[in-house]
Amino acid sequence: MIEKINNLLKEIESFQASKLEEVEQFRIKMLAKKGLITELFQDFKSVEADKKREVGAKLNELKIKASDKLNELAEKLSNSVSSKEFDDFDPTKPVDFSVIGSRHPISIVRNRIIRIFDKIGFVVSEGPEIEDDWHNFSALNFPEDHPARDMQDTFFIEKTPDIALRTHTSSVQVRVMEKSKPPIRTISPGRVFRNEAISARAHCIFHQVEGLYIDKNVSFADMKQTLLYFAREMFGDKTQIRLRPSFFPFTEPSAEMDVSCNICGGSGCNICKYSGWIEIMGCGMVDPNVLKSCDIDPEIYSGYAFGMGIERMTMNLFQINDLRMFFENDTRFIKQFGSVI
Ligand code: DAH
Repeated sequence: MIEKINNLLKEIESFQASKLEEVEQFRIKMLAKKGLITELFQDFKSVEADKKREVGAKLNELKIKASDKLNELAEKLSNSVSSKEFDDFDPTKPVDFSVIGSRHPISIVRNRIIRIFDKIGFVVSEGPEIEDDWHNFSALNFPEDHPARDMQDTFFIEKTPDIALRTHTSSVQVRVMEKSKPPIRTISPGRVFRNEAISARAHCIFHQVEGLYIDKNVSFADMKQTLLYFAREMFGDKTQIRLRPSFFPFTEPSAEMDVSCNICGGSGCNICKYSGWIEIMGCGMVDPNVLKSCDIDPEIYSGYAFGMGIERMTMNLFQINDLRMFFENDTRFIKQFGSVI
């Protein structure tokens, strides 16, 4: 018996394995139900009484050594670079890309606008979508009888005629000017609402980005240069701009800005309706009445403001011809923008 134990001890000490399966085989050979060590424990019953103490101690030592050795080898092999898993590893195999979502085209264009203005120091500010008359109209110099205040154009909140869904993001201008002192350089992206029939070119919900710059000695030329920089960053460095006189209650003088058509380069196509120009925003010098409403002294400060629709610009950039697609959330449409940033 002692001799058998000593032989097994030697076998265990010298055992080596290069694969986890070999360790498992060895475990079965030694310690499984019919394993050599298990059998020795059965034989132990017939050992003479005076030898039991010595043989018992040896047997226990054998069992402990065997399981320690097996554990040690198994641990070494499962961390080792020569394990089976590593042998099967193929570094040339293409990666499994997990499916990730895509940004909505309106968000893509909004983020581009934010990045362009961020580079020249404009910070983002936001305001509420449910707005009061003061911020949406009165502080912006809209006269009492202006048609935009009409139920036909604006969604009023029932029973509170003073509260409506904002019709433009110009309301955020007022909120920013009320709570901060010049110099102010901000853009305000957001959702706006108008009581319009839904069609391929109009919707009752859409998105705008408002811009505002207030400081000492700000001129119309500053505005023009900033908007030219924006147009070139957005539509390419060959882009031209054109300012046409216009009217808004909150700016004086006011203008509409067109950019040269980014599809035909100005020679005329169906996107620009053969004019070579695409209208992208309204702009102008902030009316002194607006500054006064916000407690900013128009004798000391001046500034410019502008407002653009994101949908129109997105339609131009990606040649989308129906505005309703932005609101349907059809994944076949949205997924096409997965690789665009
Ligand atoms: N709020 C105007 C609109 O919704 C857009 C606009 C025009 C904003 C001129 C301005 C601006 O800040 O100066 O049509």
